[in-house]
Amino acid sequence: MSAPGSTVSGVPHLDVDPFDMNFFADPYPTHELLRETGPVVYLDKWKLYGVARYAEVHAVLNDPATFCSSRGVGLSDFKKETPWRPQSLILEADPPEHTRTRAVLSKVLSPTVMKGLRERFAAAADQRVDALLEKRSFDAIADLAEAYPLSIFPDALGLKPEGRENLIPYASLVFNAFGPPNELRKEAIARSAPHQAYVTAQCQRDNLTPGGIGACIHAHVDDGAITATEAPLLVRSLLSAGLDTTVNGIGAAVYCLARFPDQWQRLRSDLTLARNAFEEAVRFESPVQTFFRTTTREVDLSGATIGEGEKVLMFLAAANRDPRRWDKPDSYDITRRTSGHVGYGSGIHMCVGQLVARLEGETMLSALARRVASIEITGEPKRRFNNTLRGLDSLPVTISPA
Ligand code: HEM
Repeated sequence: MSAPGSTVSGVPHLDVDPFDMNFFADPYPTHELLRETGPVVYLDKWKLYGVARYAEVHAVLNDPATFCSSRGVGLSDFKKETPWRPQSLILEADPPEHTRTRAVLSKVLSPTVMKGLRERFAAAADQRVDALLEKRSFDAIADLAEAYPLSIFPDALGLKPEGRENLIPYASLVFNAFGPPNELRKEAIARSAPHQAYVTAQCQRDNLTPGGIGACIHAHVDDGAITATEAPLLVRSLLSAGLDTTVNGIGAAVYCLARFPDQWQRLRSDLTLARNAFEEAVRFESPVQTFFRTTTREVDLSGATIGEGEKVLMFLAAANRDPRRWDKPDSYDITRRTSGHVGYGSGIHMCVGQLVARLEGETMLSALARRVASIEITGEPKRRFNNTLRGLDSLPVTISPA
């Protein structure tokens, strides 16, 4: 890491690598450097522009005509390179195409659909916590943050029981692939064939249980909203983005509540805070750390001139702790007004699955707070490194019953 150096078209440049293992181990000092260096910075290592302050991240997210997604939301520019897999029809699309596919996913993940899932999710959370209370000591990542979403989300989608072990490796691959061509990305793509084969097959209409969310997407072929070729790719979006994100979100929330016992006690004394405790964990830890956009024209952003066809990296996690926007940004406070955080993005691409994430988070935190008196970290937490996701690989804990 170096101090701000010379400028590229009036933009300060830095030689930090936000996809390096040292950065992943502790991104916060670099986030601060990025924010303090200027509203827009240039990162020589991967030849990209970066925005880390809340105002600019929010501005980029909310100007999709200038900062497009159809050229990829990773470092790879789809105008110059072939995408590693067929392009997403929602995440990597711009209006008007995006508007049509987004409408379909919004319907199948609507508040009404959530009402139908709530009871099942809550019962599964209670069961999971009861099983963990029997064990007392366990790994809060494998046995809780992964096990809980795996026990409900694949069933809600209507996936077959066989092959589900591919889901987390596939998602990890997708999120690594947004990054630059470093070891994480190269290795993930080199090992991707079996996971890709599973996902491609699982997204076909015949392989999805009737009544599940996947089948509901295919049903929109019959009403003409999407074509039969588009439907499997939209199911794929939920397999890519729907599991590892909530695993890391729930892992983040448990890690926060274990580290900050005053917040844990606050939650236990007022269960209505469960939903906001999860939301604040999404702000505080930002399970999805970054996304890119590509400029469609030359643009002035907060005094910086960015040419056409440039990649702009949005540091969502740095924006979520920008002191210009947040009071005591580095405190985990479950009573904070979290609205406006960009952990789910903002604007037209803002997470279409956020109601699922919140439902999982709320039901799990509420089950924990009702049944568990204390969560103690009993060993060194280990990080799992990924080019986009922030989370733990293991978190040894011991819990005691309420
Ligand atoms: C805590 C959990 C989650 C986090 C932190 C998260 C984060 C995000 C973020 C930051 C975006 C914006 C992408 C962009 O602007 O380019 C996004 C979009 C998206 N998310 Fe999530 N997500 C979560 C859970 C989910 C779940 C559970 C699903 C599916 C059920 C899902 C499906 C999607 C899809 C399909 C998009 C693309 C939306 C679009 O382009 O219009 N996500 N998510």
